[in-house]
Amino acid sequence: MIIIVYGVTGCGKSTIGQLLANKMGVPFLDADDFHPKANKTKMNAGTPLEDEDRIPWLNNVAEKLKLCSQEKGAVLACSALNEKYRTILKVVPNIHWVLLEGSKSLVEKRLGARVGHFMNPALLDSQMAALEVPEYGRKVAIDNAPELIVKNIMKDIKTMENLADFGVIGMGVMGKSLALNLADKGVNLSIYNRYVEGKEERVAEKVLEENPDYDNIQAFEEIKPFISSLSSPKSILLMIPAGTAVDWQINELIPLLNPGDILVDGGNSFYKDTIRRAELLKEKGILFVGTGVSGGEEGARRGPSIMPGGDKDGFTKIAPYLEKIAAKDYQGKPCVTYTGPGGAGHFVKMVHNSIEYGEMQAISEVFYLMRNYLELSPLQIADIFEKWMDSDLASYLLEITIDILRKYEDGEPLIDKILDQAAQKGTGGWSVNTALEYGVPYGVLSEAVMARNLSARKGLRMISSGLYNLERFTGIEDLENFLDKLQAAYQATRIINHEVGFSLMLEVSEKNNWALNFSEIARIWTSGCIIRSKLMEELVDIFKESNHILLNYEAITALKSYQGDLSYVVGQALQNGFPVPILSNAINYFLGVTTANSAASLIQAQRDYFGAHTYRRNDGDPDKAHHTQWKD
Ligand code: 6PG
Repeated sequence: MIIIVYGVTGCGKSTIGQLLANKMGVPFLDADDFHPKANKTKMNAGTPLEDEDRIPWLNNVAEKLKLCSQEKGAVLACSALNEKYRTILKVVPNIHWVLLEGSKSLVEKRLGARVGHFMNPALLDSQMAALEVPEYGRKVAIDNAPELIVKNIMKDIKTMENLADFGVIGMGVMGKSLALNLADKGVNLSIYNRYVEGKEERVAEKVLEENPDYDNIQAFEEIKPFISSLSSPKSILLMIPAGTAVDWQINELIPLLNPGDILVDGGNSFYKDTIRRAELLKEKGILFVGTGVSGGEEGARRGPSIMPGGDKDGFTKIAPYLEKIAAKDYQGKPCVTYTGPGGAGHFVKMVHNSIEYGEMQAISEVFYLMRNYLELSPLQIADIFEKWMDSDLASYLLEITIDILRKYEDGEPLIDKILDQAAQKGTGGWSVNTALEYGVPYGVLSEAVMARNLSARKGLRMISSGLYNLERFTGIEDLENFLDKLQAAYQATRIINHEVGFSLMLEVSEKNNWALNFSEIARIWTSGCIIRSKLMEELVDIFKESNHILLNYEAITALKSYQGDLSYVVGQALQNGFPVPILSNAINYFLGVTTANSAASLIQAQRDYFGAHTYRRNDGDPDKAHHTQWKD
């Protein structure tokens, strides 16, 4: 801890500072001792110092503070009269500011009694005029005995030590659940939710009212008292909707934070926004961590998977909190890891969601075929999925699907009453855009987004359905055999979904030098998050050997045995009139990626024909461009 005792000449900084340092057992620094001779001569002559005298002097003092902060801390006595000078001293996060205040007559009296000091008492007027009293820190009256003043400062510091360890902004579903999770782990917490008349009133207070057993949470509706309630360096988690709200909140926070404070964005922000915000906050000395948090409400409350990226020091400082609240993997290790710099954390979460879309779409297509082509009931399908849960197919999404299919309302399956228009908040589409930007073949996971888009066109689908009135053939003779093939097809699709998602991460990681560790990413996705599964557990080891799932021996064996069934199921589905966009894309991707000589030769020839775009040959120097006059 660094304590800076400051104020005008003669206020007692050195006496109080020295006493305080003795009591606290830390070194005492007197800024006066850092003045060069020229400054002292000027002050002795009654000439006020100028900026060019003060700034190098304060820089020296700041350097010393930095060193002390790495040791036991220190008490510094320094005039630090205005904010410009104090900012120079704010080179370390943990500063407690103590302003010594007294009337001019009292200070004059003390100056009159002072002997052998270089400071000319005539400078008091100019110093009093220069003093800017800040809103932060403690103000202590000097008309008490030094021992009593020091005692009071010590008391204040003790109170300061009781300040909250962590702040959470945004008491929506995720913010509230994470806050309660932190509080459960014994973290002293301040929670804040903005006030919006008629819409968001007393939101944070209500969290406390609903959870009266917590005595380690303070609730705020005003930002300044919320910030003041936090110990330094302040650690603040933003849990607010991605987009402009995050920029707005950051701009409100910037003037209230100090260099060294840590700001964490735990929402589903777009990773490029995170990169931009990290750059802005770096200029202010604020350590910005953009983190993915997965697991929905229950995960956030009991243990989410956490994917932080950005400022490494910032991450290191908050890691103990994140580790406390994160889900634990099968070895008991917290499902949190530093992913990489800049926007890496939010990028990884974006791809998590893209795979999530793919996994949801694959289950939905399998369900759709079972329900419509095979004409099974939701309860029968739930029973089949339950059997699959005992295999390599076990996953959180399959597990919740079983519960969904067993939910009946007034004797009817609830699933049959849910409008078939899928919503989305954007993360799946951002992944598609990123894949396009980086030239990554992403058809499979793109289809999961496009299928949602098509589902949203309910009106068009209704009209077309009536106009075309296509015949859909249902029922199958050998049900068991088809179910076996469907299981294999689903198995293959899942492997391909994951391969495609991770291949996007591989490309972006390499291009940006993020050095993403895929085994570690798979590990933190084995528990807490929405795409946790048996397959993910297997990927932890697979990625220790290769960055491509498809190049792994077990995956090759599995895909070789499943690909025929995937082709068959897709063929059957299409022939009988049932769309299966992700299953069919998966087999197309698989056949494409395992095809050494593709159809692209003709595309190159066509490009060269109509646009002289040139082509390269496979029977000579592959880097040499060729152009042909195609028509004589
Ligand atoms: C998670 C989820 C979550 C996501 C929503 C749905 O990992 O906990 O991915 O972050 O926002 O569950 O997102 P869509 O509305 O885009 O489907």
